[in-house]
Amino acid sequence: MATQRSEPALRDERSQLHPFTSINDMKAEGPMMIESGSGVRVRDLAGKEYLDGMAGLWCVNLGYGRKEITDAIAQQSERLSFFHTFNNMSVDVVGECAEALLQRAPVPMSRVFFGTSGSDANETQLKLIWVYNNLRGKPEKKKIIARWNAYHGSSVATASLTGLPGMHKLFDLPKGPIIHVSAPYYYRNAPEGMSERDFSRQLAKELEETIEREGGDTIAAFFAETVMGAGGLIPPPEGYFDEIMPILKKHDILLVADEVVSGYGRLGTYWGCQSYGYEPDLITSAKGVTSGYFPMSAVFISPKVWDVLEAGADQIGVFGHGYTYSGHPVGAAAALAALKLIDELEVVKNVADVGPYMMQALKDRLGQHPHVGDIRGKGLMLGIELVQDRGKKETFPMQNRTGRQVLKAAAERGLITRALGDTLVFAPPLVLSRGEADEIVDKFALAVEDVVGS
Ligand SMILES: Cc1ncc(COP(=O)(O)O)c(C=O)c1O
Repeated sequence: MATQRSEPALRDERSQLHPFTSINDMKAEGPMMIESGSGVRVRDLAGKEYLDGMAGLWCVNLGYGRKEITDAIAQQSERLSFFHTFNNMSVDVVGECAEALLQRAPVPMSRVFFGTSGSDANETQLKLIWVYNNLRGKPEKKKIIARWNAYHGSSVATASLTGLPGMHKLFDLPKGPIIHVSAPYYYRNAPEGMSERDFSRQLAKELEETIEREGGDTIAAFFAETVMGAGGLIPPPEGYFDEIMPILKKHDILLVADEVVSGYGRLGTYWGCQSYGYEPDLITSAKGVTSGYFPMSAVFISPKVWDVLEAGADQIGVFGHGYTYSGHPVGAAAALAALKLIDELEVVKNVADVGPYMMQALKDRLGQHPHVGDIRGKGLMLGIELVQDRGKKETFPMQNRTGRQVLKAAAERGLITRALGDTLVFAPPLVLSRGEADEIVDKFALAVEDVVGS
């Protein structure tokens, strides 16, 4: 992290409240000022280069400096920098983008609804779900089940869906008809000796019991990230979606796949749900849709939900939901360029190759390390959980901030990672090569050794 404070760093620290940043850490260390990027690397103001193991915030999937996208943004900005999609308005590029998205959906989808962030997209999902059940004459069917350790956003409703107590405490959350069930966190939550499949069955049983306790006719939807991201990089245990899907179907509960991180190739399939063979009713996507070059989200609405909206059109009248920047033409141009590149560069195929390669390299290098408890993930969404005692899975004392120390040691070595407690995560650009994966693993292993020894 920045040790010498440059004037821009000082100015930033004294004028900006940073999201998801400790005020104390910011005062003590100042910000790390990134000023340019190319490919999988970024540079700070002092000219130091870093391999960006997080693709920004799991979003710059195509890497930095892609001229195809910046040109598309510039050209659209010049032609028409903004128009809206309220009141029957639109712009050609927005419809083109919606169609391109529908063509890439993992299951037949009827419509796309645009926003600018994962949070606003999940807000849209909640409202769609509630409208859907009102139109179906099921006004009692409104509760939402989410999971502990989930991350669905930072707005009032989506932070409530999120299952991270630190985002609830002091913010008077959660609010709304939201119920949390256990995280599918095999390493931490499965009883000793239980198989992944049995753990999935146990979670399914808990879900079913929760639904029965609340009454199935009061539960509207279940939200799930395919692989949990910000809550600790938690892939579902074997058979998880196979176990829960029939329960949701039986109780007429919609499944919302939050693919904000796992969409657009990150898991080595175009959509995360395709890696685990399940079919969502609604999909939330953002981040990778423009490779982070423009703020944009896209909600996918299945025929099951759309047909009800369409049939209820008279009752709805004007669909009273939307954002100024829903269907922003510049965002749509950026997305079209990004979608084209995902296809042309065969990004999904690359992840299917480099993801398992990087996982194996991490296991080869750190799998036996006494302070590495678990290495997990899918595709290019990988996490390494550090522990004090590997045998007992005992955590380091919280005040040691071990994960954060490793993050800082990695930055010293020119690698950006992210610490979720003591789980360090990687979600690099999806165009990562095997050589660059080796570089991440090497720098990371050295950073781990710097902090906790070998
Ligand atoms: C799975 C998931 N859903 C929703 C969000 C919220 O997206 P945003 O920060 O764009 O509001 C995120 C952000 O990281 C996410 O990881």
